[in-house]
Amino acid sequence: NPPPPPGPPSFTGTKLVNDRAHPWRPLRDGDERGPCPGMNTLASHGYISRDGVATPGQIVTSVQEGFNMENKFAIFVTYLAHLMNGNLVTDLLSIGGKTRKTGPDPPPPAHAGGFNVHGTFEGDAGMTRGDAFFGDNHSFNQTLFDKFVDFSNRYGDGYYNLTVAGELRFQRLQDSIATNPQFSFKNVRFFTAYGESAFPINFFVDGRKTDKKLDMASALSIFRDMRYPPDFFRPPTPMSNQGIAEIFAMHPFQPGGNADGKVNNFVVDPTSADFTKPCVLYDDILNTVKTLYPNPTGVLRRNLIKNLRYFYTSVPTVFGTDCGEQFPYGQG
Ligand code: HEM
Repeated sequence: NPPPPPGPPSFTGTKLVNDRAHPWRPLRDGDERGPCPGMNTLASHGYISRDGVATPGQIVTSVQEGFNMENKFAIFVTYLAHLMNGNLVTDLLSIGGKTRKTGPDPPPPAHAGGFNVHGTFEGDAGMTRGDAFFGDNHSFNQTLFDKFVDFSNRYGDGYYNLTVAGELRFQRLQDSIATNPQFSFKNVRFFTAYGESAFPINFFVDGRKTDKKLDMASALSIFRDMRYPPDFFRPPTPMSNQGIAEIFAMHPFQPGGNADGKVNNFVVDPTSADFTKPCVLYDDILNTVKTLYPNPTGVLRRNLIKNLRYFYTSVPTVFGTDCGEQFPYGQG
């Protein structure tokens, strides 16, 4: 019986999070890591199980504790990932690839495949991960990180800041348009890509600093080594996707993808959600859930109802508007 998501912690200020209770440890055989440098780092410091498999409640607690992510935002991202890629019967989610540690699979087309599954949450034009079309959508990619450094040098005097974020986001979109015949950039991916471009500024900068710029040694430590910088303090206030509007405004871009499996053939998709119509994103998420779970019964159906409910508790805050909760499987 999946419990409701955790509330906010009582203390939400800055503090040392690379502490003695959470030592970094190298990977062991079978540990799952994936496309998210934030969750990888939390697992490698033991803020969730070091094997990279956790319940959504444990994930919410860990991002609040270890990176001071705001409660409703943490619930939104976590339950979205769980509905897309988790095992709703066992209440377990892998932050990397598919593993038996999440338990017996639900009936297909549901897959419980973890964060690495392409096209539900994970998507194209990431900053330090390649597009799925090129074969590896989840490992740290040194060539892409070199580009991250190059842009930080060109636009940020050696630091990753909002200007760098806007320029790099746009460049990564141009790269995918020019090289990935299956490039897709809409709905969930449209929102997460802009949010993730702001995350290194919001979450990876030491909480005792106020200059909103990330040095390259800290970036490499988190993105590649899944390791907090030495003596790292989390942000001084709960954070989410602050800065996303500035990043977007630098190079406004409409959702869409390369059509007909051809590069340099970007076509706008007017049916996709964008920042002016977030409730279309809620509809799209529900449609994906209904596709994954066309006819759930028993515990699976009960847990779908609960997880959809828990997810929706975050929607009015995160979207700034009440989209109207939907109940595709009834209300239990
Ligand atoms: C990327 C999930 C929390 C930072 C991703 C991706 C997933 C994901 C699936 C891959 C998306 C893609 O680029 O294709 C989650 C979930 C979280 C979470 C479910 C639970 C709350 C965090 C936190 C941080 C973070 C707390 C920062 C401390 C990032 C960044 C990327 C990313 C920077 C982009 C990586 C890149 O483009 O190279 N996350 N994440 N995430 N996540 Fe997380």
